[in-house]
Amino acid sequence: MAGRLIVVSNRIPEGPNPAGGLVVALKDAITEKNGTWIGAYGEPGEATDSFDELEGTPYRRLAFRLTAEEHSNYYLGFANSVLWPLCHRRVDLVELQPEYERDYLSVNRRLAAMILRILKPDDMLWIHDYHFLPLAQELRRLGVSNRIGFFLHIPFPSHADLSVLPQPETFAGWLADYNLVGLQTGADVARCLEMYRADPRAEFLPDGSVKFGMNILSVRSFPIGIDVDSFIESASRSAPSPFGREEPAKYIIGVDRLDYSKGIPNRFRAFGRFLENGGAEKRPCLVQIAPPTRERVKAYQDITRELEEIAGSLNGQFATLDWTPIRYIHRQIEREQLATLYRRASAALVTSLADGMNLVAKEFVAAQDPEDPGVLILSKFAGAAEQLTEALLVNPYDTDDIASAIDRALEMPLDERRRRHAFCMQAVRRTDVSLWSTQFLRVLERCMPTLNLPSSM
Ligand code: ADP
Ligand code: G6P
Repeated sequence: MAGRLIVVSNRIPEGPNPAGGLVVALKDAITEKNGTWIGAYGEPGEATDSFDELEGTPYRRLAFRLTAEEHSNYYLGFANSVLWPLCHRRVDLVELQPEYERDYLSVNRRLAAMILRILKPDDMLWIHDYHFLPLAQELRRLGVSNRIGFFLHIPFPSHADLSVLPQPETFAGWLADYNLVGLQTGADVARCLEMYRADPRAEFLPDGSVKFGMNILSVRSFPIGIDVDSFIESASRSAPSPFGREEPAKYIIGVDRLDYSKGIPNRFRAFGRFLENGGAEKRPCLVQIAPPTRERVKAYQDITRELEEIAGSLNGQFATLDWTPIRYIHRQIEREQLATLYRRASAALVTSLADGMNLVAKEFVAAQDPEDPGVLILSKFAGAAEQLTEALLVNPYDTDDIASAIDRALEMPLDERRRRHAFCMQAVRRTDVSLWSTQFLRVLERCMPTLNLPSSM
């Protein structure tokens, strides 16, 4: 590829070695391709109309700032109180406010104008996630004909749920100005194509791509993964126990942002059910690490309160002087510690009600000792379940199903644990994150170039 790679994501990577999955995923590709990463500062302030160049990384970083109002309306509002619940099948939590959509569109428009000023004709753009669905449309309006790829990290919404938007047809129009739309799973691709099938403006070409106005769009799945070798290395270092002298003899681990899509209340209830059904005799612990996220959104405040209540009530019911069944840690922890925690756990609980992929599931598998691995209990509604079919797959809405999976995991014979782990490990390797970015960029390079007219014209 001759041109540069320009990546856009909501958050600008902070510092030379940020731990976030996306940075790990893209830092090699972006460094090799003389690339630039564009993203917003975490804190709002005075709006910027041109980028600040940040120092200290092998690739170029360009940051922009949102105003406090944009942060409320675009980020907390349209992105996280409309699109996030819509895509995670929680239309009951969608909050429609005209100023949310107004600022969502105006932030995307401002960003497009700023990108135009630094863009060269053979640059390729890779836009990430639901914060920027209309960015290609705004760029095309400005005459940009460069190849633009988009990757949606979260589930693609169902056709029925999309009708919750005041103008559902805008969603198809936003995506139609990309050359390539990457989604996590085959099921996501099916939902996206269902949306275009129902849209009279779209025409299907014999190779399966979608012609929409002047543009031809490819929709493909690219399941994201982790940097497998680096995770194995972190987990196999003989690090001291992160618990100090308080390490439980047997524990199950849960690691999630404190998000309602992760199904943590059901997980706690299922653990309670398991304890009631005789599991308390084994005195296992559920260690739940759940850092707060998007705290100004009411749904996140509600889930925080709900979890404290359930954990408090279960500990009140079952704890003894020398055993606390649920250890609930409400903060971020170091990646090295996380890898050690995964490795020493007997099982992991991933019970998302909906999840684009769920990298925690893959990290847990990679962190295990193959000779004596722990067991992954995985929601069938996480994207990772399409690949990790030998995990113990559960219905996260069914408390008894999760409770019996916990029992089964803790009793599972060594040969079965090894067999399931070896299978999952192969799947984790097949989706290594470097393959993910290489494959996406290879397909994007081969996409038909765009005539510089927006599809919506
Ligand atoms: P999501 O992107 O919805 O948060 P994923 O499971 O795909 O869910 O990715 C979450 C990432 O954040 C993983 O890499 C995980 O290790 C990391 N993470 C989640 N919780 C914590 C925590 N408490 N401390 C450190 N890292 C965390
Ligand atoms: C998910 C989304 C990302 C987002 C991350 C953290 O992984 O797919 O786009 O950055 O959650 O959420 P936050 O709102 O803190 O950026």
